Amino acid sequence: MTSRSANLVLPRPFLKWVGGKGQLLEELRRCVEAARPFRRYHEPFVGGGALFFDLYRNGLLGRAAAYLSDNNPNLIDAYLGVQRDVEGVIARLREHKAKHGETYYYAMRANVPPDPLDRAARVIYLNKTCYNGLFRENSRGEFNVPLGRYRNPAICDEENLRAASAALQRAKIEQRTFSTVLLKAGPGDLVYFDPPYDPVSKTSSFTGYAKGAFGVSEQQALAGVFGQLTALGVKAVLSNSMTPLIRSLYADYTIGQVLASRAVNSRGDRRGKIAEALVRNY
Ligand SMILES: C[S@@+](CC[C@H](N)C(=O)[O-])C[C@H]1O[C@@H](n2cnc3c(N)ncnc32)[C@H](O)[C@@H]1O
Repeated sequence: MTSRSANLVLPRPFLKWVGGKGQLLEELRRCVEAARPFRRYHEPFVGGGALFFDLYRNGLLGRAAAYLSDNNPNLIDAYLGVQRDVEGVIARLREHKAKHGETYYYAMRANVPPDPLDRAARVIYLNKTCYNGLFRENSRGEFNVPLGRYRNPAICDEENLRAASAALQRAKIEQRTFSTVLLKAGPGDLVYFDPPYDPVSKTSSFTGYAKGAFGVSEQQALAGVFGQLTALGVKAVLSNSMTPLIRSLYADYTIGQVLASRAVNSRGDRRGKIAEALVRNY
């Protein structure tokens, strides 16, 4: 595989991330089309980057620079590695693939290497081989998911990694919390927020993305940021579950309803049709 042929492959998320957008993508794409032209594109809860890669595949980012961020340091390690030295990441993943097995998995899980490319490849390796592709951490920020039961996990999808790397060349990737979007976004920009969802029931919450939960006060703070962006002339779109809290926090904006099946419970493996809210300020 040469780097030239990588351009023929259209990139998809290279991590399996809870909250990947599935059927919501089409609606989101329509929202983005309605916001064009925009100057810059911001995704402050980037996760697996489902919408970013979809927009790239469909040529909808135009010349806009992308600001991709998330507060999960492991995730950002993986993005930065793929962006800066995808061949280095691929070489390391090939090694993981050759050595993969139960003992090897738990040894990799236990140690966070100091080298940034080693860290990036470790995150991708664990993500592809762990149970359910979850990226759950304990209160000390340690990855604690057991080995998954995949017969032949796609540890090193070289073509997609190269294509993702090409797409990420236009992006500024940073670990930071969502409210910092206020320091980056300006009039004419577009922001897409995909926060951890407000739980539809007590048992359905999944807040294990990283240390610390995303509760009511975070949802309220996010609605405050949404309001400030609106006042600044920034176009903003947000997806969340259609709960009384979300309806009341965004009552001043257009709220569309989309029926989608998502993994929403704490095990992340039970799926059902739930109503999702698509909020926009334009
Ligand atoms: C619903 S997921 C995003 C899914 C993503 N759109 C995708 O396509 O995979 C929510 C993301 O928010 C991140 N997150 C949680 N709290 C955050 C915070 N305070 N600031 C920024 N990101 C946060 C999590 O690490 C997770 O990646």
